[in-house]
This record gives sequence, C-alpha cells and structure tokens, in this order.
Amino acid sequence: MIDNQSSASPSVVRLTRYTATEQSEILGDGADPFGVADAGLSWLPKEEHFGIRRNGRLVAHAGLLRVPLSVGGTATPAVGLGGVAVAPDLRGHGLARLVVTAALAHARTLGPRHGLLFCRPPLVALYQRLGWRTVPVDVRVEQPAGPVVMPLRTMWTPLHDGATWPAGPVRLLSLPM
Ligand SMILES: CC(C)(COP(=O)(O)OP(=O)(O)OC[C@H]1O[C@@H](n2cnc3c(N)ncnc32)[C@H](O)[C@@H]1OP(=O)(O)O)[C@@H](O)C(=O)NCCC(=O)NCCS
Repeated sequence: MIDNQSSASPSVVRLTRYTATEQSEILGDGADPFGVADAGLSWLPKEEHFGIRRNGRLVAHAGLLRVPLSVGGTATPAVGLGGVAVAPDLRGHGLARLVVTAALAHARTLGPRHGLLFCRPPLVALYQRLGWRTVPVDVRVEQPAGPVVMPLRTMWTPLHDGATWPAGPVRLLSLPM
C-alpha cells in the first residue's frame, strides 16, 4: 500500500523549497538520477514545485517553469514541466500521474496554451499515457555555447481547450527545463 492516510489517495502539496537536498530525499544520491547526463546539457531549475509526502518523507516531485518558446517564428510561451521524480521503491503506483496532474492543473492557470517537457525515449509511452504528444520536429534549445538541437524527445500537452501544436520550426529561447 502506498496510501498514507486510510484508503485516501496521497495528496499533492505545493513545496516552498526544492533543492538538491529534497531531490536526493526522493531519488537518492546517484550521479545521474534522471539518466540524461550523456546529453551533456545545461538545465534551468524549476520555479514552482509540487510534491507528495509519505510518512513525512518526500517521495514524488514535479516542477514547473514558464519558458519562452517560438514556433514557426511566433512567440508561443509555454509552461515547462521538469524534474518529475518518484522514489524508486514507490514507482508503478501512480504517483507520477498524481503529481504531474496536480502540476498541470496549476499550469492551466498560468496563461500559456501549451505544456512542454523533454524526456528520454523510454519515457515517451509513459507521458503519452498522461496525455502528452510528441513534438513532430527538431527543437532547438539554448545552451551556454549557443543553440543546439535537443537530443532528447520533446513532448507537449494542451493547457487550454482547443490548443493545437502550431506548424513550423520550434525554438526554446532559454536553457531547457
Ligand atoms: C518516470 C517516473 C517519474 C515514473 O513514476 P511512476 O510513479 O512509476 O509512474 P506512474 O506509476 O504514475 O505511471 C504513470 C502512467 O504511465 C504508465 N506507464 C508506466 N510505465 C509505462 C511504460 N513503459 N509504457 C507505457 N505506460 C507506462 C502507468 O501505467 C501509468 O498510467 P496509468 O495511471 O494509466 O496506469 C519514475 O520512474 C522516476 O522517478 N524515474 C527516474 C527519474 C526520471 O527519469 N524522471 C523523468 C524525467 S522526464
């Protein structure tokens, strides 16, 4: 059982603090807990944090950050989702679904029409299950030495009714999140 209060679902809370300490509370101290070190990218920290606690321990997290995106040459601000993490011993019980769903409910109040995330190819099916779709073109993102083509998969989800993915080249005008 993963429930922390009778048979109710564990609840998602806003976190006022999410640093390396909180991340290692969830994922441990491994060198590359997200499995993306090979990509050699610089990342932005997230600004808003959502978490699930179980018996006082932080066991899941999702972060949000507004990002400046351009699609087909038109400014298309998005809400980036990142840092999605569930404690290894509690995976496969729906905690990622719960924390991502809560983060997206908040993302819908922020204004942008699109959510955006980057992930390793093996996670595409999981995010599809959560309602995300693959961005069908290469995505250029900023890096300290200049723009590069994102080597990970880029996915999007509508934050407003009727939002569709616009045609054209996609550029994230910041570091990825
Ligand atoms: C990725 C991660 C967050 C998933 O957490 P989780 O709690 O095990 O995920 P959930 O149990 O909520 O699964 C979410 C949904 O994806 C589905 N799913 C899981 N693995 C899947 C797969 N390989 N293919 C298709 N669907 C999959 C689940 O069935 C569930 O759907 P459902 O609710 O309709 O049944 C967790 O494995 C993790 O922390 N990994 C290390 C950090 C990382 O890589 N984070 C991702 C950064 S982009």
